[in-house]
Amino acid sequence: MSGIQAVRGMNDLLPGERVRLWHRVESAIRELTSLYGYQEMRTPVLERTELFKRSIGEQTDIVEKEMYTFTDTGGDSLTLRPEATASCVRAGIQHGLFHNQQTRLWYMGPMFRHERPQKGRYRQFHQFGAEAFGWDGPDVDAELIIMSSQLWALLGIGRITLELNSIGSPAARAEYRERLVGYFGERKAELDDDSQRRLGSNPLRILDSKNSEMKTIIEEAPQLADYLDDESKTHFDGVKERLNRAGIDFRINQRLVRGLDYYTRTVFEWTTDLLGAQSAVCGGGRYDLLVEQLGGKPTPATGYAIGLERLIELVSLQGGGEEEGATDIYLALLGETAELEGVVIAHQLRTEGYSVVANCGGGNLKKQMKRADRSGASMALIVGDDEINAGTVVIKPLRGVGTQVTVERDSIQSSISGFLVEEN
Ligand code: HAM
Repeated sequence: MSGIQAVRGMNDLLPGERVRLWHRVESAIRELTSLYGYQEMRTPVLERTELFKRSIGEQTDIVEKEMYTFTDTGGDSLTLRPEATASCVRAGIQHGLFHNQQTRLWYMGPMFRHERPQKGRYRQFHQFGAEAFGWDGPDVDAELIIMSSQLWALLGIGRITLELNSIGSPAARAEYRERLVGYFGERKAELDDDSQRRLGSNPLRILDSKNSEMKTIIEEAPQLADYLDDESKTHFDGVKERLNRAGIDFRINQRLVRGLDYYTRTVFEWTTDLLGAQSAVCGGGRYDLLVEQLGGKPTPATGYAIGLERLIELVSLQGGGEEEGATDIYLALLGETAELEGVVIAHQLRTEGYSVVANCGGGNLKKQMKRADRSGASMALIVGDDEINAGTVVIKPLRGVGTQVTVERDSIQSSISGFLVEEN
C-alpha cells in the first residue's frame, strides 16, 4: 500500500512563502476588523445538521450534495460547517447577543464542502467573515462593502470588481418566483437537467446557471428589478448612494441571486478575472429573517465572507510576497559543558527577545556552521568549553555585517545589536 495521502480537496500548508502570505493576510484582517470596530468570535466546526438545513435551505447545492454529514455514536446528525453565518446566528441566539443590542462580529476558520476540487475550489477551505446584527438600514450594508474594499487596499490588490443586486422582500420575491416558474415552465424543453429540477424547487437559481446553452433563455427571462417592492428599492438606492460617495465602483448584476436561501434585499460579490473559473473572492448580503427563522427575536442582519485561499492566491499573483522573519542567532555549541550551558545562554537571549536556533545533536564546528548558514540567522554565537572557562563567546556574522569577534559573556547583548540584519 502506498503512503497515506491527505483527503482529496484538503490541503497541507507547508513551511515557507505561503505560510508568510497567510500570516500577512491574517494580520491585515485583524487590523481591518479593529479599524471598523468588529469583534472576533469563534464557533465549533461541528454543528447540528438541522442548523444548516434550516438556514442555507434544503434545496440548495450546499445542503443537497455538499455537506460532510455523519451520525455520531450518540445518534445525533452532525455536519462540518460549510459556512459560518448560520453558526454566528445560532451562537448569538444561544448566548443572548442580539437582545436589545446591536453587534458587529467577525470570524475566521476552516469550512467544509464536498465540491469537485479544482484550483481555487477545495473541500476544506477557509473564510474570513464579518456579520452585523441589529441594523436594518443601508448604512451598515455600505459599511461592510467599504470595509471589504479596504482589505483589498491593505493587501495591495487591484483588478477586483464589485457586483451588486437587490433581491427584495420575501413577498416581492415570491411574486417574481411565480412569474419565473411560468416563464421557464413554458420553455421547459430548453432547460438542462439541473434547471428542470430547480424549476420545482428553487427556480431563482436557474438564473445562476453556468451552462452556456442556457444563456439566451436566461437573458430573456423576466427581471427581478421589475418586481422589487418600494422599501427594497429605497434601501438599495441608499446602499448605492453611499458607495458612490465612498468612491467605490460597482456593477449592477440582475442575475446575482447567491447560492444560499437566507438572503433578503442587498446581495453582492467581489470577483476577479485573475483566478480563472473560481472568480468569486467575497460574497455576502442582507439576511433579515434568519435570526427569527432559527428561533431568535426578529433581528435584521447583514454580512459577507471572503475565501482566504482565493484571496491569498490573488495577493501572491499581484506580487505580495514577504521576506522571511529571519532568525537572529544560531547558537553553535562545542563540547559537553558548552552543550549544557547552551540551555542557559539560549534562554537568556530569548528572554531578551532575540530569536535563537540552538544547535541540537552535536557535530563538529564545520557541520554546525553549515547548519547555521542554512538557518538564515544573522549571526552565529560559537561557544566551546574553552569559551565557557574564559567566560566569553565568539560572534561570527553570517550575512555580511562586521567581522568575527570574541566578547565577554556578560556583554553579549550589547555586542549583538551591531550584527543584526534588519528585515524590511
Ligand atoms: P459563499 O458565497 O458561499 O457565502 O462563500 C463566500 C466565499 O467563500 C466565496 O466567495 C469564495 O471565495 C469562498 N468559497 C466558497 N466555497 C469555496 C470552496 N469550495 N473553495 C474555496 N473557496 C470557497 C457564504 O459562505 C456566506 N456565509 C457569506 C455571508 C456571510 N453572507 C452573509 N454573511
